[in-house]
Formats: sequence, C-alpha cells, structure tokens
Amino acid sequence: MGPAEPGGQGGLWGGVPGLCLRLGGASAGRPVLAPGLQAMWWSLAVLVGLYYLLRWYRERQVVSHLQDKYVFITGCDSGFGNLLARQLDLRGLRVLAACLTEKGAQQLRSQTSDRLDTVILDVTKTESILAATQWVKEHVGDRGLWGLVNNAGISWPTAPNEWLTKDDFMKILDVNLLGLVEVTLSLLSLVRKARGRVVNVSSIMGRLSLCGGGYCISKYGVEAFSDSLRRELTYFGVRVAVIEPGYFSTNVTNPEKISRGFQETWDRLSPEVREAYGEEFLASARKPIEKLKSMCDTNLYLVTNCMEHALTACHPRTRYSPGWDAKLLYLPMSYLPTLLVDTMIYWNSPRPAKAV
Ligand SMILES: NC(=O)c1ccc[n+]([C@@H]2O[C@H](COP(=O)([O-])OP(=O)(O)OC[C@H]3O[C@@H](n4cnc5c(N)ncnc54)[C@H](OP(=O)(O)O)[C@@H]3O)[C@@H](O)[C@H]2O)c1
Repeated sequence: MGPAEPGGQGGLWGGVPGLCLRLGGASAGRPVLAPGLQAMWWSLAVLVGLYYLLRWYRERQVVSHLQDKYVFITGCDSGFGNLLARQLDLRGLRVLAACLTEKGAQQLRSQTSDRLDTVILDVTKTESILAATQWVKEHVGDRGLWGLVNNAGISWPTAPNEWLTKDDFMKILDVNLLGLVEVTLSLLSLVRKARGRVVNVSSIMGRLSLCGGGYCISKYGVEAFSDSLRRELTYFGVRVAVIEPGYFSTNVTNPEKISRGFQETWDRLSPEVREAYGEEFLASARKPIEKLKSMCDTNLYLVTNCMEHALTACHPRTRYSPGWDAKLLYLPMSYLPTLLVDTMIYWNSPRPAKAV
C-alpha cells in the first residue's frame, strides 16, 4: 500500500465524515475543503474577529475626571517610571512621583508641569515609606489615591546561583519584592478609598526563570503577590494589573554595569568554584551580556502605554506583556513543558568546565 493521500480513505481525515478534503469538481486537480469544514472555519474566524472587536471597543473606554486623579509612582529617577510620570503629567493627571535621589527629582520637576510633585523614597526603608505615605495623604485628602504604580527595581547582582551570597539575594528582594509589598500595604487604604488601581511592574522573568540570583525570584514573588491582592481587592472595586516587559533599554539592562558586576562576583569566588566553572565559561557567559544592547527595545512607550492603560481604562487588563520578545518568545516558552524549555535554555548556554 502506497502513502496515504489527503482525502483518500487512508488519509488523516479519511474516516471523519464532513472533515475530508475532496478532489475534483470545479477546481479539478486542486484539493477543496468540504462545505462542512469551510463553514466551520468561517464561523470560527467570525467568532474570533468578533471577540477582538468587542475587546478593542471595551478597552478603549476611559475613566472620567482624569484631571482629579492622583497617581503615585515609585522609581521615577529614570527608565519607565520617569517616562510614565512625564506621560501622565501631559495627560493631565496629578502625578506624585517618588524618586530615589534629589537629583532625579529635580530633573523630573524641571521637565514637567506644576501639577507634578516629587518626594524622596527608598522602598527598602520603612521610615522612608511612612514619610512618603504621610506626604501622599496630605496631597490626596478625602479623594484617596487613584493609582499606585510599583515600578522601582534593580537587577544586580545577577550571576549563577552558586556564585552569589545570601546578601546578594536579599539586596534585590529588598527592593523588587519586599519594598513593593511594604509600599502597597502602606498605601492600600488610600487606594481602596478611591476604588483605584494598583499597577505592579514584574517582568517576563516573573514567568520564566532565565538567570540565577534574586531577580527572577523577586519577579515571581511580584506575580504571586499581585494575584492574591487582585482577588482580595476585587470586593472593594480596586483593580490590580501586572506589567511583564521583555528586554528594554534602561539602567536595569545596562550591559556595562551587568558585565562589571558579573566579573566582580567571579573575582570573589573560591578556587574550587572557579575551577568547576572555568575561565572559558566566564568569557562565554559574558558574550550574551555584551549583545544585550542590540536585544533591547528602545521604545519605552510600549511599556508606559500599558501602564497608562492599566490606570486610565475602564476595563484594564490583568496582565500586560509589552515587547515583541515577551509576546512571541518568552511568554509562549513559559507555557511549554519544562523538558522542552530546559533543552532550549541548555542549547543557548555555556557549559561549565567540569560539566559531567
Ligand atoms: N528594562 C527592562 O528590560 C525591564 C524588563 C522587565 C522589567 N523591568 C522592571 O521595570 C522596573 C523599572 O526599571 P527600569 O527598566 O525603568 O530601570 P531603571 O531606569 O533603573 O529604573 C528603576 C528605578 O528604580 C529606582 N530605584 C532603585 N532602587 C530603589 C530603591 N531602593 N527605592 C526606590 N527606588 C529605587 C532607580 O533609581 P536610580 O535611577 O536613582 O537608581 C530607578 O529610578 C523595574 O522594576 C524593573 O525590574 C525592566
């Protein structure tokens, strides 16, 4: 028996009535879809089209009185936080921008309107959070806080886990996770008063653990915290959104800084660990870091537009994944079986000298 032909009795769909491909008729020689199958595909296409049309219409609706709404953003010295502060200011919202440094705050004030106000906030320090909360209370009064954007974050030290110390892990977790949790808890009653929004900045690394160190752990934590918070706050009319960007060109992805830090962790390693990994591993692991610049998207608006949507749309999404790498590579990868993901990652990673 020869190979089965499409539409023939021995074909893939051969035994399924209505799903077979037929030959002949008006387009002799070319395979034609059976009418039942054609109708099914058309209905499916129309349904999908309708779903996206409805979603597009729903997501276009904007909340009213934006000019009266206060939004507090952490980490406004640079990157996404800085751009979002300027963007929302232009849109007419009342921006309360928290910066880590006075220099960052001054720069931001010089680029924005009088409506925007700044405060110094280090999210790792309880007293700093309490002072900022008091400052926010004085600004918002009885209206409450419409938006809280937990954006402050760091990415260093990042290296293979064995190269790092507990303090290295704590440094990132303190800012990216515990800082975010404490700021949220401190401001939550004000957000509930306004039936507002909490926007937490995670990362695609909160869906896929691509590197050692505290960064991925912190972002997985942000995802978990946001999920429970969302469910709890729905009762009070508060919406919680998570932003999961791919790679973007900011300080967090600065290749020089990352490469320097990588070398520093290597320099302090014990001879035993160094021998296990080898100099060649160090050199190969640094290559992708050097290429990071070309991998990063420079259009930060892709991220801040998602944040703006989460704050201003009547029907915000639960998750936003800005960046083509996030949408087309990392997010789909996060749904694949572990074995497959591990193989893809091994395939792209250097091997330690003493790998067995
Ligand atoms: N860039 C990316 O590819 C990417 C991808 C996914 C997620 N993210 C996340 O996006 C968020 C914003 O990062 P970014 O990319 O815009 O980088 P960024 O330019 O470095 O912004 C981070 C901001 O957080 C501030 N910050 C650092 N430590 C702080 C602390 N202890 N307390 C308060 N603020 C502090 C920084 O202040 P200084 O500038 O004064 O240090 C800076 O303004 C982070 O949560 C990051 O993890 C970034």
